[in-house]
Amino acid sequence: MLFFRQESISAPELQAFAQQFGTLEPHPTAPMHQDAPLLFPIYRGTNSKPNAVEQVSRENIWHNDTTYAAAPARGAVLACELCPPTGGDTLWANMAMAWQRLPDVVKERIDGLYAKHSVEQYFGAQMPRSKRHAYARRLPAAEHPVVVTHPETAEKVLFVNQPFTTHFANYFDFDSVRFGQDFAGSGALLDYLKSQPQHPELQVRLKWRPGTVALWDNLLTQHYAVSDYGNAPRKMLRATLKGEPLS
Ligand code: SIN
Repeated sequence: MLFFRQESISAPELQAFAQQFGTLEPHPTAPMHQDAPLLFPIYRGTNSKPNAVEQVSRENIWHNDTTYAAAPARGAVLACELCPPTGGDTLWANMAMAWQRLPDVVKERIDGLYAKHSVEQYFGAQMPRSKRHAYARRLPAAEHPVVVTHPETAEKVLFVNQPFTTHFANYFDFDSVRFGQDFAGSGALLDYLKSQPQHPELQVRLKWRPGTVALWDNLLTQHYAVSDYGNAPRKMLRATLKGEPLS
């Protein structure tokens, strides 16, 4: 995580800053910024009446970005254009530390496991059926190791998340899992792993100011945008750094 406090930053400046760290990829579905076509505006509360229920989803769920892709995002840059009067912080959790803190028996159980990640489970849940199916055809589910080896530091990183990870792909083994009978255990284990970023010991919390910029490693961390500001406007700009397939 790197945080930069500035007074302001324009969209083209932010895009140029982000491009120094890798290739930027547009969001697969969301409209991009008109002056900086590789930036994705995350604007909340800008169309709502004060007490209305806002008809857009928010990012108040622990996740890494785009893990439903064969090559998930390597990182991201996020900047605040407009902050709500209170709240609207973002938290990140260190998922290498999450793996380190697991009991040895769990580390042994998940060693060598793979999991499926699907866009349909989360973004698709907001769509009518035919649109959801078309979306899933366009972005088919990806499979990644449950424990990823970080490409630069060689740290082991717990790599499952709440919105996108659907199930273990190779849970059965001849020693400890009865084929067709013990899948309930796999769901409980996956839920337990997905809950790890909730531990405050793993977290850092950023209070945004206009112009603040955050840069993060999307393999090493998960993030959570706290939705505690009602329908007050909150305007963020995000760039996504393209990644590679994982091993
Ligand atoms: C995101 O999940 O990328 C958005 C985070 C935020 O708006 O704070």
